[in-house]
Amino acid sequence: MLRVAIVGSGPSGFYAAEALLKSSSVEVDMLERLPVPYGLVRYGVAPDHPKLKLPAMAYARTAAMPGFRFVGGVTVGRDVSVSELQDAYHAVVFCAGAETDRELGIPGEELPGSYAATELVGWYNGHPDYLQRNFDLTQERVVIVGHGNVAADVCRILAKPVDALRQTDIAKHALKTLSASRVREIYLIGRHRPVQAKFTDKELRELGEIPQASISLDPGYLELNPSSTAEAEDPRGQVAAWNMMLLREFAARAASTAQRRIHLRFLESPVALYGEDRLEGVILERNRLEGPPFGQRAHGSGDTLRLDCGLLFRSVGYKGVPIPGVPFDTPHGIIPNQQGRVIQGKSPLAGLYCAGWIKRGPSGIIGTNRADAVETATHLLSDFAERDCLPSKAGASTLLPLLSDRGLRCTDFQDWLKIDAAEIARGAAAGKPREKFVRVQDMFGAISDRAAV
Ligand SMILES: Cc1cc2nc3c(=O)[nH]c(=O)nc-3n(C[C@H](O)[C@H](O)[C@H](O)COP(=O)(O)OP(=O)(O)OC[C@H]3O[C@@H](n4cnc5c(N)ncnc54)[C@H](O)[C@@H]3O)c2cc1C
Ligand SMILES: NC(=O)c1ccc[n+]([C@@H]2O[C@H](COP(=O)([O-])OP(=O)(O)OC[C@H]3O[C@@H](n4cnc5c(N)ncnc54)[C@H](OP(=O)(O)O)[C@@H]3O)[C@@H](O)[C@H]2O)c1
Repeated sequence: MLRVAIVGSGPSGFYAAEALLKSSSVEVDMLERLPVPYGLVRYGVAPDHPKLKLPAMAYARTAAMPGFRFVGGVTVGRDVSVSELQDAYHAVVFCAGAETDRELGIPGEELPGSYAATELVGWYNGHPDYLQRNFDLTQERVVIVGHGNVAADVCRILAKPVDALRQTDIAKHALKTLSASRVREIYLIGRHRPVQAKFTDKELRELGEIPQASISLDPGYLELNPSSTAEAEDPRGQVAAWNMMLLREFAARAASTAQRRIHLRFLESPVALYGEDRLEGVILERNRLEGPPFGQRAHGSGDTLRLDCGLLFRSVGYKGVPIPGVPFDTPHGIIPNQQGRVIQGKSPLAGLYCAGWIKRGPSGIIGTNRADAVETATHLLSDFAERDCLPSKAGASTLLPLLSDRGLRCTDFQDWLKIDAAEIARGAAAGKPREKFVRVQDMFGAISDRAAV
């Protein structure tokens, strides 16, 4: 029996488990730092996008496959070391995602009022790590830096009338704060032109469909330089071409007196944040683009402007964090690897693999992780198929007593199903698909004491 430990229970962890378990002589133990599974499907995907959470149903089917075990509440690298996992398992697959955010690296970034989008996303999705965040939504003007889908999510959640969120699985504390929001203006600022924006057209279109919110867009941004025109006309620029059509439609809309206004701005980079004790605004530098199609870079023109704001969210990408005992490529925030085999220098490290965002960096939708995880699982299986004889490894029989000796309380998949049912029951009372437990102790409370519901 080939015993594999998977670290992380997001999409890449479940796709890797599924690919491995299709081989009959494999057992998979999936270790997750939280008591509950699914990574960013639970804690990233926006609450008003319930269909995008449906992959979780497929993951539950994987969890029901023979040979699968979920061990929640264990942080690998802290509660159990990688070398202890290597003693108990033939292979370890790291699917730990990108747990932190990229910074802008500009003066004033640390001012209260300046945050990572990661924090707001974790907060409105009820992630236990972000429960204590206190966003001052009495501010009228918010700036979001970045033109990706996370920025679009954050913009939409801040711009939507709160009544449009009440029947989602948004965390109760977020709903309460959003109910008192005085946000009126949201600036969505990107450093490139519209053609280079990373929004997908569906997410961009939604920004134009928010009730009681209007879009403000200077049509001048839609006049393209020759390299950007070439990009939009290239088959690789299909999404950009659709985005351009949407933006033209936004720019042609009549002036509106909507309650909230989304300002789409391009060719600007933040160079400093200002404020005495808290954020009061951002200094932006206008950019020009230089370079060939698909190779254009933004260069500061030296021309700056001030934009007062009380809140700023940088949404400029996520970043992986190192796991003690595993090589780490700090500049790229990933585990160095060759098609999923963890490497040190140029040599693969026997028995260590990775998949998902920790393997390739923080890009791609949920489905992207399937092919990525299958690649890793295929290499893992072929590496072990080449071995003449497999040493015996005890897997969970070694791991679980070790975790218990350390006083750790872990969850299994049955526990998750109880937590899931309790959350759904709590939500039903409020007309929501679920009301998440936002404290780890309450998740455990739902397992041991149904009164916690
Ligand atoms: C805000 C946001 C919204 C998104 N919305 C969508 C969307 O609507 N549709 C879409 O298709 N894609 C969406 N994506 C992209 C999608 O979520 C990712 O492609 C996908 O989640 C990456 O999967 P992963 O398994 O690599 O990482 P993750 O989903 O992050 O899973 C990693 C897991 O590892 C666990 N972990 C980390 N470190 C350890 C450790 N040391 N020990 C044990 N466990 C550990 C984490 O707790 C987590 O559960 C979104 C991404 C973000 C950031
Ligand atoms: N509904 C969905 O399907 C959904 C929802 C959320 C997320 N996702 C996916 O999750 C992945 C991550 O999304 P993301 O939005 O975090 O990342 P992203 O798509 O890579 O977007 C990051 C944005 O930050 C900008 N940026 C980076 N560094 C910057 C800097 N120093 N200054 C100014 N701007 C900077 C980038 O601009 P440049 O392009 O100029 O570098 C880009 O606009 C993506 O693949 C996304 O599609 C999907």
